[in-house]
Amino acid sequence: MRVLGIESSCDETGLALYDTDKGLLAHALHSQVALHAEYGGVVPELASRDHIRCLVPLLREVLSRAGCVMQAIDVVAYTQGPGLAGALLAGAAFAEGLAVSLNKPVLPVHHLEGHLLSPLLAADAPEFPFVALLASGGHTQLMAVTGVGHYELLGETQDDAAGEAFDKTAKILGLPYPGGPALSRLARSGRPGLFELPCPMLNSGDFNFSFAGLKTAVLTQVHKRGETADAQFTVDLARAFQDAVVKVLTQKSFAALRHAGMRRLVAAGGVGANWQLRQSLDAAAQARHCRVYYPALEFCTDNGAMIAFAAALRLQSGVEVARPAGTFAIKPRWPLSDI
Ligand code: KG4
Ligand code: ZN
Repeated sequence: MRVLGIESSCDETGLALYDTDKGLLAHALHSQVALHAEYGGVVPELASRDHIRCLVPLLREVLSRAGCVMQAIDVVAYTQGPGLAGALLAGAAFAEGLAVSLNKPVLPVHHLEGHLLSPLLAADAPEFPFVALLASGGHTQLMAVTGVGHYELLGETQDDAAGEAFDKTAKILGLPYPGGPALSRLARSGRPGLFELPCPMLNSGDFNFSFAGLKTAVLTQVHKRGETADAQFTVDLARAFQDAVVKVLTQKSFAALRHAGMRRLVAAGGVGANWQLRQSLDAAAQARHCRVYYPALEFCTDNGAMIAFAAALRLQSGVEVARPAGTFAIKPRWPLSDI
């Protein structure tokens, strides 16, 4: 069975074709980074329009790379939520319309389920059960995963998501959008231990997070240094910020593993691409005889492959698909525990 996956929840249009026998046949992605850069963040209306512009060319590209015709698609899967309403509508309307025209069923997918299952796309995939750390621009959650569709929320951020904290802190440090990857690159040459930043909720005794205060602490340091701030100051402060986020994410992830009695950790979502987080999780895992699994770097941030793949796993686990009913709904706010 061949599943077309369509992702359009934020600022990336991603399409992919996944074959339940042969694996991932092809995928294509258009990032809107250049479009939003001059505004310093995602402009929802521009995002929606750009998705509409890119969906058809990306579908053609995926089909051509896969060497398939349109009729070879058996199921059309798309991100139903959570995300930006207009952006989701663009993908959902396209998917539903395509399914009607092909007379094929549709399968709406939860964006976070796509992230959560994305490490299973890799050749060396983890087995169930595992704890998943989902750290993206919109979410930071720890989930106990016992199978496809069986996700127990252990804890989540009480304010900013980890990626959001990266992006806001990057802005404070004068880095261009998208801030997370830029800050992470800068932090590579930062000297550790030069600033005392808080590690929010590190010892809260639960699996929740809070990152808003950390960004404020960075702002305080910037104000304190004032005019005398130089390039090295910025680099060292970026490192201190990253150290704090990585420490909290690592410590809480392993506390969650202990609590769940599991040995496998999956780290997914955009922040899962962070080099220092990967180093820290791997070192902690080695010391505890555990193992961490990551998606390929290209599938850490938003993409169509994870949506096609999550839909394929759902189909294999017996979920029912339906023909398009002529009406559809998007879910901009949608807890993963509600699927
Ligand atoms: O998963 P994703 O593409 O979109 C959401 O579902 O939100 O994650 C995007 C987030 C952004 O906040 C971005 O700054 C952050 O992930 N990000 C990173 C890195 N790469 C992406 N944060 C830290 N280090 C990175 N290397
Ligand atoms: Zn995402």
